[in-house]
Amino acid sequence: MEDAVYALPAERNRHPIMEKPTETFQEDLWRGSFGDEYAQRNRGAALQAGKTALFARILARAERVRSAIEFGANIGLNLRIIRDLLPQVALSAVEINASAVGELQKIAGVRIYHQSVLDFKPDHPCDLVLCMGVLIHLPTEHLGTVYDLLYATSSRYVCLVEYYNPVPTEVAYRGLKNALFKRDFAGELMDRHKDLSLVDYGFVYHRDPIFPLDDVTWFLLEKS
Ligand SMILES: C[S@@+](CC[C@H](N)C(=O)[O-])C[C@H]1O[C@@H](n2cnc3c(N)ncnc32)[C@H](O)[C@@H]1O
Repeated sequence: MEDAVYALPAERNRHPIMEKPTETFQEDLWRGSFGDEYAQRNRGAALQAGKTALFARILARAERVRSAIEFGANIGLNLRIIRDLLPQVALSAVEINASAVGELQKIAGVRIYHQSVLDFKPDHPCDLVLCMGVLIHLPTEHLGTVYDLLYATSSRYVCLVEYYNPVPTEVAYRGLKNALFKRDFAGELMDRHKDLSLVDYGFVYHRDPIFPLDDVTWFLLEKS
């Protein structure tokens, strides 16, 4: 593991839209320039192609998805693809980073919640709740709350696309500690909410010759 320590700038703890008295290290990271840089870096035709292949596979296993919400939607790459595949779908997004929200606002008809997932209160149920590359970045002590939130927001499906590891582990992320965790997120969610069942799951390998992605494991769960 790379050895790095991130110093939390005191002034960022007083962010005007901050809703909690204390912001977690991870929220501060994504709200600030680290998050801005991610939004600039992660785009392009190859990424779009890989994501399109992934969501075509996932959505082929779901029926009657008329509404979808993404937690940690960034600039809306996934939401745009979901709408291409399901043109009638109503879209919502929860996103903490202001520059990403600026790009989400360019997508017509997306209901945007510019806030932390950790502060989000669901106000409408969605057929599909999506988390891609977000649980891996949340503070471990809040995961239970977020699992309950995903479950409460969904009227039918929850889709997790994250980094899997059978036992919880931490790895350095861009030289930072406490910024990236791998675990069996879907298994933990199903253990916590027993009426969720596994519809399908899969893995996308970064060496896939046609549609590579970043070694993600996806799980489609359904409420019974
Ligand atoms: C690794 S990116 C994944 C983006 C997108 N889901 C995708 O697959 O392209 C993580 C995203 O989650 C957002 N995020 C991280 N922590 C968050 C939080 N606590 N609340 C809301 N959004 C958060 C980040 O700003 C970023 O847009």
